[in-house]
Amino acid sequence: MKDFRELETEIKKASDKFTNIESINEFRIKFLGKKGIISLEMKELASLSGDEIIASKTEELNSEELEKKLNSETLDITLSTSKSYGTIHPISQVIEEVITIFGDLDFFVAEGPEVETDYNNFTALNTSEHHPARQMHDTFYVETETDGMPNVLRTHTSPVQIRSMLKQKPPIRLIAPGKTFRCDNDQTHSPMFHQVEGLVIDQESNMSHLKGCLEIFLKTFFETDKLNMRFRPSHFPFTEPSAEVDIGYTKKGNQLIIGEGEDWLEILGCGMVHPNVLENVNINSNEYQGYAFGMGIERLAMLKYGISDLRTFFDSDLRWNKHYGFSPLNIPSIIGDLS
Ligand code: PHE
Repeated sequence: MKDFRELETEIKKASDKFTNIESINEFRIKFLGKKGIISLEMKELASLSGDEIIASKTEELNSEELEKKLNSETLDITLSTSKSYGTIHPISQVIEEVITIFGDLDFFVAEGPEVETDYNNFTALNTSEHHPARQMHDTFYVETETDGMPNVLRTHTSPVQIRSMLKQKPPIRLIAPGKTFRCDNDQTHSPMFHQVEGLVIDQESNMSHLKGCLEIFLKTFFETDKLNMRFRPSHFPFTEPSAEVDIGYTKKGNQLIIGEGEDWLEILGCGMVHPNVLENVNINSNEYQGYAFGMGIERLAMLKYGISDLRTFFDSDLRWNKHYGFSPLNIPSIIGDLS
């Protein structure tokens, strides 16, 4: 197809040259005759469909535009992006640290469900039916049942002891970090919180192994060589004897210094696994013995990283997360401190 504008100028030029009748005739034959340029163009035009015309014009314009864009735009790969990274929540960070330290002490990580049977959460752990821990105000009951008893949201990570001992023969060395639930909500309690359980079962582990293990853990976790610790006699249905562990601290201005000082902070519960618990999971308590401990992850995080209000952990305030969270690219490392 000819360009119509070109054709127009061609016609004008030719008509300007009319000098006599002959030249007009020539012109008529060339442009207007049956086989003249205009007739031929008209025929070709008729054979083209409208779609074809639009498609070819669109393609032409698109490639022109692309050409223009390619010529005008450049990509500067040296510019930094303005994207900000998320942060690792202090709870996740502390769980990682705890796993790392106990991993170096040959513990493996066990898990259990958050909805537990009454049996695993209480009965198998030697917790009698009238124990205060079972009372309605402490325990969240759910609508499902097992063996005629309503299931519970586990009130501690100790039922993982039961599940693991039913699955695996001693020797056992495990920790079980996870969520736990109690019907409690104030400045120092949240209805959902985290614990880490520890369990060691073999033929000789005794109270001094328990003390040594916890001392290594706490010193490594708080990154201090000096750690005042005391074991206070206590009671848990599933351990005998039982103890609560306090660590010494002092205050410098607003800051807590862990390890030194005459003031005491309760940090965990522990004891030698009660023979009844071993018998409940078919382990011969004359042959095997061991220790268990349980501690609150939030508590560990608050003390190590100077976080003062427990409730802020679960507010999902991005400014808080940015302040107390850990960069995924720059995680404080304690790996290798246990040589
Ligand atoms: N389960 C106990 C609690 O929640 C802690 C604990 C665990 C104590 C293991 C002794 C042994 O308080």
